[in-house]
Amino acid sequence: SLPKEVTMIEVGPRDGLQNEKSLIPTEVKIAFINALKDAGLKEMELTSFVSPKWVPQMKDAEAVLEHCLDKRRNFVLAPNQKGVERFYQSGAGHIAVFVGVSDSFNKKNINKTTEESMIELKPLIRDLKENGKFVRACISTAFFCPYEGKVSIEDTVKLCETFAAYGVDELSVADTVGMANPKHVHELFTVLKPSLPESVLLTGHFHNTRGMALANIYASLEAGISRFDSSAGGLGGCPFAPGASGNVATEDVLFMLAEMEIETGVNIEKVVSAVDLVAPYMSRPLDSKIYHLRENI
Ligand code: HMG
Ligand code: MG
Repeated sequence: SLPKEVTMIEVGPRDGLQNEKSLIPTEVKIAFINALKDAGLKEMELTSFVSPKWVPQMKDAEAVLEHCLDKRRNFVLAPNQKGVERFYQSGAGHIAVFVGVSDSFNKKNINKTTEESMIELKPLIRDLKENGKFVRACISTAFFCPYEGKVSIEDTVKLCETFAAYGVDELSVADTVGMANPKHVHELFTVLKPSLPESVLLTGHFHNTRGMALANIYASLEAGISRFDSSAGGLGGCPFAPGASGNVATEDVLFMLAEMEIETGVNIEKVVSAVDLVAPYMSRPLDSKIYHLRENI
């Protein structure tokens, strides 16, 4: 049976903006984050502690956080030791580490093999947990790799089990380039869920490159998943994943769930208004049905 409630994790300020070439003013990012919080989104990725040479858009991470930290789950991404040091400095409480299941993608994204990243992350995660931090692990290329093709369920489950053994609180399982299909998604979550301790939160992260994200979310719901990453306006994509387009639009997911009488506690009109704040800065048309239909929702 389907869940009665779903938790939405907003990734627009991070995944949504990271791929935009022209720099968006820090004040605009802060206003966007505040408007999304005001819409009722209680969990959000705010920014990333990554190399400013690799992802210039995220170089104002500290300035964004200075104005946006509160008692909610405000995640900041960090891929390595340097990122974790910046995280401690910032005083944030919730971190998201990220690793790809496939080596080729992980090398393009963070210049290490998957195993090298895991060796670096193991003691960092132990320290983060000892310091009472919430640790989310984002699992890229969990279904498909733009360089290697289809990723096996076994490889993804194995990496997730290793992260669970390291003590992470949450796994966000990602279809980085929008190649997953509902059958594959259902199979993966059906195998993955019982292989992890019940205390580990499981989240689906779907890019909508081929228009399959909502179908993949429905398949996840049927497999017992009740947490989803999404991006207001359908913004987003990883700069190191050729062919990736935006995340599924938050307002599109909200519309589907509301029609199915599944509670989220998020106000869809307020999400649409939040998108208005950043829309003028976007270089691509917004991939969101509900944003464009706004008068009729
Ligand atoms: P590298 O060049 O191998 O790094 O890059 P390095 O360790 O050799 O250091 C080189 C320089 O970078 C040094 O500075 C370091 O201090 C600096 P220099 O001495 O030359 O002046 N540096 C840093 N600066 C700031 N913050 C840091 C940091 N680390 C090193 N954390 C590195 C390795 C990981 C840094 C680089 O590859 C990188 O920044 N990658 C980030 C890629 C990224 O942000 N991708 C997008 C997010 S993941 C995603 O979108 C997928 C997701 O949505 C799920 C899905 O959809 O799949 C989560
Ligand atoms: Mg992503």
